[in-house]
Amino acid sequence: MANSNSITLKFSILLVLILVFGTRDVKPKLMICTHALNVTIINDITSQSTPTNLGLHCKSKDDDLGFHTLTIGEKYMFSFTPSYVFWQSTLFFCSFTWPGNPNRHYIEVYKQKRDICHNCEWKINKTGGYLWGKFFPWNSVQIMGANNTSSM
Ligand SMILES: *[C@@H]1O[C@H](CO)[C@@H](O)[C@H](O)[C@H]1NC(C)=O
Ligand SMILES: *[C@@H]1O[C@H](CO)[C@@H](O)[C@H](O)[C@H]1NC(C)=O
Ligand SMILES: *[C@@H]1O[C@H](CO)[C@@H](O)[C@H](O)[C@H]1NC(C)=O
Repeated sequence: MANSNSITLKFSILLVLILVFGTRDVKPKLMICTHALNVTIINDITSQSTPTNLGLHCKSKDDDLGFHTLTIGEKYMFSFTPSYVFWQSTLFFCSFTWPGNPNRHYIEVYKQKRDICHNCEWKINKTGGYLWGKFFPWNSVQIMGANNTSSM
């Protein structure tokens, strides 16, 4: 009886060791996945005639980052921690506006399933956005109501 108890105890210790080392393996992976990412947006509207300010408004399902204006060449940056729960997926999209154009131009600036960048640097011009060597046209374009003062 005492012998079988001591075997049970040894197995219990082994089980505890497996659990401890098991979770140690998991933790570093979670830490990598919870690193904050940066999205940088640059006004890249190259206009020979008049310098054009770029209005932008970025959002995710949970965050509204507000309205900002960039002069030519100016940068706007935000950071966030992407979801590390595999069935959820982080998505940030922005709308862009500029004087003389009645539309809001939407682009997905961070899509967890698409982007592997840790510093996603977008150059935005009037036809879309350029992310590390790849050009993305607008995802959608929506007309702003003449009476619509909402900035998104
Ligand atoms: C916007 O940038 C892309 C990629 O550099 C370029 O192909 C396109 O002609 C540019 N559009 C304008 C209006 O400058
Ligand atoms: C904007 O509001 C004015 C005054 O209420 C109205 O006469 C006009 O038709 C509206 N324009 C649009 C595009 O909704
Ligand atoms: C203003 O524009 C936004 C985005 O296009 C739209 O969701 C909203 O319904 C509009 N508001 C009015 C009063 O037209």
